Amino acid sequence: MISKSNISVVSARRVPRAPLLLLLLLLVGTVTAALPGQFTFSCHRYGRECKLWNLYLDTPDEVSEAIINTGGDGSGSFVEVEIAYSSLPIIPQSLFSDNENVVSLKMEDCDVELLESSTFDDAHELKYLQLQKNHLTVLRDDAFVRATKLLRINLGSNRIVTVGEFAFRGLDNLETLRLSRNKIAQFASKTFAGLHQLTELNLDHNHAEELPDRLFEELGQLRELHLDHNYLSGLSRNTFLGLSGLRKLILKENELVSIDPQAFAPLTALTELDLEGNNLKLLSPNTFVPLVHLRELVLADNYIERLDDGIFAGNVNLEILKLNNNSIEELQPAVLAGLKNLEDLALQHNEIRVLEKNLLKSATSLRVLQLEGNVIHKIAPGTFDTLKRLETLDLEDNSLSSIEGGIFSGLSSLEKLYINENQIEELKAGSL
Ligand SMILES: *[C@@H]1O[C@H](CO)[C@@H](O)[C@H](O)[C@H]1NC(C)=O
Repeated sequence: MISKSNISVVSARRVPRAPLLLLLLLLVGTVTAALPGQFTFSCHRYGRECKLWNLYLDTPDEVSEAIINTGGDGSGSFVEVEIAYSSLPIIPQSLFSDNENVVSLKMEDCDVELLESSTFDDAHELKYLQLQKNHLTVLRDDAFVRATKLLRINLGSNRIVTVGEFAFRGLDNLETLRLSRNKIAQFASKTFAGLHQLTELNLDHNHAEELPDRLFEELGQLRELHLDHNYLSGLSRNTFLGLSGLRKLILKENELVSIDPQAFAPLTALTELDLEGNNLKLLSPNTFVPLVHLRELVLADNYIERLDDGIFAGNVNLEILKLNNNSIEELQPAVLAGLKNLEDLALQHNEIRVLEKNLLKSATSLRVLQLEGNVIHKIAPGTFDTLKRLETLDLEDNSLSSIEGGIFSGLSSLEKLYINENQIEELKAGSL
């Protein structure tokens, strides 16, 4: 058997041709026995860290023959491996089979094309796997089935199109899974089944048009779900079933036209919901009612024309509400009634014409109110009277022709007031 020779250089360059190899052997000096086709790459160790740089191998066969030596001293201490500035079509099998103490592998931007079915068979101690910015296109079933200690997997910024329905089987301890910035258009319904410990799932920047019902059903521990920048056009009442612990749901930049009134009902712990940049026009009055813990709701940049009186009736804990860049013409006082904790209200770039007298009456916590870019020509006297905490009021670019005396007089905390780009001809005494 050929002993694992030690090339004690950080940069073991790509397998050279024979004369070059001889030269390299002479130069390096510490190579003990290397036969053509069999190379050992040893890393620089800094405590637990093992760095392997400049590994250039062209074919999977070449990689299969490579031996990775993480310099374990037999004491069984864990090793964190980083392979960088390298090009390898697959992950060297030897990394795990010869080094069972590898607890973390970072292999970013290394041209990895394929995860062979046996790659992680011996990765018994692996907890952290970072494979972002590679060229993976497929995740096969049972790709990680023996690496049961995995806690975090990052496969972001690859070219993944196909994810096997059982690609993540066996990952009983997984806490974070990132599949961001790939080309995944479809998820089979059991893809995430069994990931009972998962707390964060990133599926953003993919090509999903639809999500199968109950896709997330077993993810009772999930706290954050990132689905932004996909092509989702609808959500059903069964899309989010089972996500009873979810705090943050990001759906911005999709193509949502409709949302089933019951779609968010399972999300009773949700605190943050982002629906910015969709195609929403009509929202059923019950859409947000079950979200009693909601603190931030972003509906900016949609096509919303009107809001039902009771639309936010269940959201008494709301602190941030963004409705800017829609087509809202009219806001009834009932819409905002009860939002006692609201601090930040964004209504800029709509088509609001009138501020009703009682519109903001119960919004006593308000600190920022943005109304710029509307067509407001009338503000009823007393509209701002209860806003004792308001610090910023933006009325820029509206259609105000006069400002009634006393209208801002109750705003005892006001620091910034913007009223430029209106048609104000006279300021009545005591206006400011
Ligand atoms: C909202 O509209 C304004 C004015 O048209 C534009 O400048 C801004 O970028 C828009 N913001 C969003 C979030 O779409």
